[in-house]
Amino acid sequence: MTVVALVGTQWGDEGKGKITDVLASQADVVVRYQGGNNAGHTVVVGETTYKLHLIPSGILSSGTTCIIGNGVVVDPQVLCSELETLSRGGISTDNLYVSERAHVIMPYHRVLDQLEEAQRPWKIGTTGRGIGPAYVDKYRRIGIRMLDLTSPERLEKALDQVLAFHNPLLQKVYGHPGFSKSELLEEYLEYGRKLAPRLADTSLMIHRARQQGLNILLEGAQGTLLDIDHGTYPFVTSSNPTAGGAAPGAGLGPNQIDKVIGVVKAYTTRVGEGPFPAELHDATGQLIRERGREYGTTTGRPRRCGWFDAVLVRYAARVNGLTGLAVTLLDVLDVLEEIKVCVAYEYRGQRLEHFPTDLDVLRECTPVYATLPGWQQDLSGVKSYEDLPPQARGYLEFIAEQVGCRVQIVSVGPRRDQTVFLEPVLAP
Ligand code: GDP
Ligand code: IMO
Ligand code: MG
Repeated sequence: MTVVALVGTQWGDEGKGKITDVLASQADVVVRYQGGNNAGHTVVVGETTYKLHLIPSGILSSGTTCIIGNGVVVDPQVLCSELETLSRGGISTDNLYVSERAHVIMPYHRVLDQLEEAQRPWKIGTTGRGIGPAYVDKYRRIGIRMLDLTSPERLEKALDQVLAFHNPLLQKVYGHPGFSKSELLEEYLEYGRKLAPRLADTSLMIHRARQQGLNILLEGAQGTLLDIDHGTYPFVTSSNPTAGGAAPGAGLGPNQIDKVIGVVKAYTTRVGEGPFPAELHDATGQLIRERGREYGTTTGRPRRCGWFDAVLVRYAARVNGLTGLAVTLLDVLDVLEEIKVCVAYEYRGQRLEHFPTDLDVLRECTPVYATLPGWQQDLSGVKSYEDLPPQARGYLEFIAEQVGCRVQIVSVGPRRDQTVFLEPVLAP
């Protein structure tokens, strides 16, 4: 039995969905523990590309139990449509369970997300899916939980409370008409009826799976630098994607997580606003964007691209307690003659080895680069570590040394068979 947390080490979109899908064939249970449908996890199976926002990427492996944990914020409308899309594609969703404790994203959260973003003089570049406002209501203790959708009396009481807070705010501050209790009650009780058979005490399910000696994979969304505590605040999301968030978000004890795998791109990308020291504004940045198809899964926005930033991933190794790395999209770098890695920052003549807290400092940091030779070969068909050209192995070894963490998985393409295991992650 092994419990593995799989986390994003950069600004999201590291290929967590692909790696989760690959590991899911050896996992009995896959759990999402935070975030919501701000996530976009692309998984390619055969000729079909799946874009999952809320449902764990383990759903594409038959027989794997999938859980949306209590730490996730669930938009029931999105969940129902994602379930329908999968069913239409012949994917069974019978094994999907949702925590009755998970908080619900309501229409006023989506509206507030967009109004707040429009009103802010500086932009976060949120996905506009209502994630932040839903988490704020959770912490304000006026949130609606999945369980509430199954009881007309409880939902009505909860709506009375929350609308008494939000309607005056929407009307007086934003000139929005506000929301009708009766309409929300009708629509959300219907979701409750549809989803009731899937609601469960998912912490208990995970506990039982552990007792049976099953393998459990905790699938993170977003990434370390988007973490509300450890990310580039305020240009962050509203949850803890870092491994520490996996325990409360799934309902496990922290000592029950055996391994923490950091999924890391062979370069760096970011969607949305905020400083990004190793960003490339030149033809190489454009080349990486095109070769890596770096356009957002959720919003379609072009992703900002740059060189691998070892300062940032070293920081991720520390705040997540990483036990191994899964390096993805290595093939994107195939055509480059030389590859740079940011090994430190320079700030006003000073060399910084550690990621700074102060964004004003980060904005002024310039990368100190090491230059490595490229391999200029197609890696997409590589099946073993030994098959990799020496320059590619050299690149991976350099990254491992810089970050202080072993590389356990290398991904050379979006498909399942384009994955090289250096070490087993989930014991058979
Ligand atoms: P996630 O949010 O972390 O799951 O990542 P996304 O799905 O948003 O973005 C990763 C993208 O890279 C997806 O389109 C994947 O299909 C693709 N991908 C994953 N691994 C590889 C790889 O090794 N090589 C290439 N070329 N594409 C990959
Ligand atoms: P996956 O799971 C990349 C970014 C948004 C914005 C910031 C806050 O696919 O890696 P939010 O809507 O969460 O309040 O937006 O976080 N963001 C992501 N960027 N990948 C994601 O998820 C993201 N989820 C949120 O672009 O900058
Ligand atoms: Mg993504």
